[in-house]
Amino acid sequence: MSDSKRGDPKRILIFDTTLRDGEQSPGCSMNLKEKITLARQLERLGVDILEAGFPIASEGDFESVKAIADSLERTCVAGLARTSDADIDRAGEALAKARHPRIHTFIATSDIHLEHKLRMGREQVLEEVDRAVRRARGFTDDVEFSAEDATRTDWDYLVQVFKAAIDAGATTLNVPDTVGYTTPVEYHELIRYLRAHVPGSDDVIFSLHCHNDLGLAVANSLAAVQAGARQVECTVNGIGERAGNTAMEEVVMALKTRPDHYEGLDTGIVTTEIYPTSRMLSSIIGIPVQPNKAIVGDNAFAHEAGIHQHGVLNAAITYEIMTPQSIGRPSNELVLGKHSGRHAFRDRLAELGYDLEDAEFQKAFKRFKDLADRKKSIYNEDLEALVADSVGRQEGRFALADLVITSGTFATPTATIELQVDGEPHKATAQGDGPVDAVFKAITEVTQTKCELEQYQVKAITGGMDAQGEVTVTISDEGRRVIGHGAHTDVIVASGRAYVNAINKLEWHKSRRGSDEPRGI
Ligand code: KIV
Ligand code: ZN
Repeated sequence: MSDSKRGDPKRILIFDTTLRDGEQSPGCSMNLKEKITLARQLERLGVDILEAGFPIASEGDFESVKAIADSLERTCVAGLARTSDADIDRAGEALAKARHPRIHTFIATSDIHLEHKLRMGREQVLEEVDRAVRRARGFTDDVEFSAEDATRTDWDYLVQVFKAAIDAGATTLNVPDTVGYTTPVEYHELIRYLRAHVPGSDDVIFSLHCHNDLGLAVANSLAAVQAGARQVECTVNGIGERAGNTAMEEVVMALKTRPDHYEGLDTGIVTTEIYPTSRMLSSIIGIPVQPNKAIVGDNAFAHEAGIHQHGVLNAAITYEIMTPQSIGRPSNELVLGKHSGRHAFRDRLAELGYDLEDAEFQKAFKRFKDLADRKKSIYNEDLEALVADSVGRQEGRFALADLVITSGTFATPTATIELQVDGEPHKATAQGDGPVDAVFKAITEVTQTKCELEQYQVKAITGGMDAQGEVTVTISDEGRRVIGHGAHTDVIVASGRAYVNAINKLEWHKSRRGSDEPRGI
């Protein structure tokens, strides 16, 4: 973390935890390639600190923190660690090659957590803080300490905890509202109290970290900023545990849009990368953004009421407090078609934040050409689904090679499928209540997966009769729930792909069970 950023009193640091606090929420898990793609986009977006994961949680977490640390140039990369030596050492190891490493260590400080979770006394926790921060300083001079459940912690004890962290060498002090319990006025007072009472507080950065259980995460975050916190911990689209974390794009645009109110405080975010980043995350995890979501929702800039439309046409300022262009929303113009070549395809992918390796690019280009044969107008949304399909979603033991169905008013729906299993072709035929059911049954006959279909959703990616359908399926087995996605102009093919994608994920989790199961916090 450069001193100029830390030293500028008007600069709000953005600490992005999409890949840690966001990724550990249900349905948001990403594979290594997806995490690296998103991390690179977050660097383009200009986040100051990127929390890449929790290295001791699993081999996969360790590998992804390491890979991100190795590949980012400008961004500070953080790894999360509890206070144990093993946690800190593992984080230090994962960050060994980072240009700007940060160890983020935490322990709960509320009496509720001390009594029911940690079974430790207050003195013991102070000792843990001291030991952990000192050990982390052995790896890097950029150490963040978080007092988990700070907003339900006795304020004077919190002062002692933070003093211990500063004395041991912490440079950032985080005040998490872990359970989304606080309110704007209360959080504002807490931050002011800590800044006034923690000895040495002028030499450290105070950070906020809010969860959205009462729908107050962004309001609380902005209140903390007004009280002098200078680091905002947040996630893209507000994804995260339970009701989510502070939505990065909302805080950034609130500061940008209201400099009069926020006294010119600003972030280093390249706001035109906000929308592409939001789209990329949504297409990787397959969780759509709600249409009325502030800043990045489909309707955020749509003016339906006639009187509004009239006003906006005369002068946008009548009903628009910021422009869609300022967050990088393209007008939904036709982007590519049947005659577009490799160059145009590569350029457009780069604009959307995708930098594919050669083999991946060739695979994606072939799928693009296939799609262009079936669909006249190819929009950005089509390309995002196509890249997600050809890069992220094809990993695993199973791949759908072919699918034929017969169905109709009087015919019994029947599906014949061919699956590649570890590279070998396997065929199956099954009947079902409908064509999708028949396809799922035929696939299950080959994979022999025991699972329950919890949810099936289909939506058109763009408008038009030839639009691609995007299918999302949620399946579960023994309490493990995974989400699969597939896109195609034929929704039955999209369904088959989504189901195979979900089964691959389930199989992957099963193969890791026992040894390497990720543990969130
Ligand atoms: O919510 C929380 O308390 C956390 C900490 C680890 C910062 O995520
Ligand atoms: Zn959190």
